[in-house]
Amino acid sequence: MKKRIIFKKLSSLVESGKTKDDVLKEVVALLKNNFSHYNWVGIYLMEGEELVLGPYLGMTSPHTRITLDKGICGAAAKQKKTIIVSDVSKDKRYLACTPETKSEIVVPIMKGDKPIGEIDVDSDTRAAFKHSDRDMLERISLTLSTLF
Ligand code: SME
Repeated sequence: MKKRIIFKKLSSLVESGKTKDDVLKEVVALLKNNFSHYNWVGIYLMEGEELVLGPYLGMTSPHTRITLDKGICGAAAKQKKTIIVSDVSKDKRYLACTPETKSEIVVPIMKGDKPIGEIDVDSDTRAAFKHSDRDMLERISLTLSTLF
């Protein structure tokens, strides 16, 4: 599916009047079902000082709560910027979800200057995430921030 169609679906979802939880769930499905290199897709939301796993599709992750000093997820929220890891085996911060995962992208969802959550995508392919993934996920994150 073309990214243009993804954005169209995203706008209609956000304007649909559905609950935030339903929108987040559908966005996860939209991403997981349309990009074959997205093997695990999830959304974490900040609760106090922790990232708490919300909707996700893929293998069950042991990392349902992550503090900001842990993982790629913690680092992205702390630094308030997207992190792409091309080879997770070479990144000491990495918290493993599945042994198959080779690369990861984490995009914070910001409300003003505050991280309120993030989109996390894992791939079983090394260096799977390019500029175009980053651009798309950052645009999606910006749209999702309007729900909060
Ligand atoms: N890999 C993440 C943890 C989340 S699981 O991949 C779902 C990290 O290093 O923070």
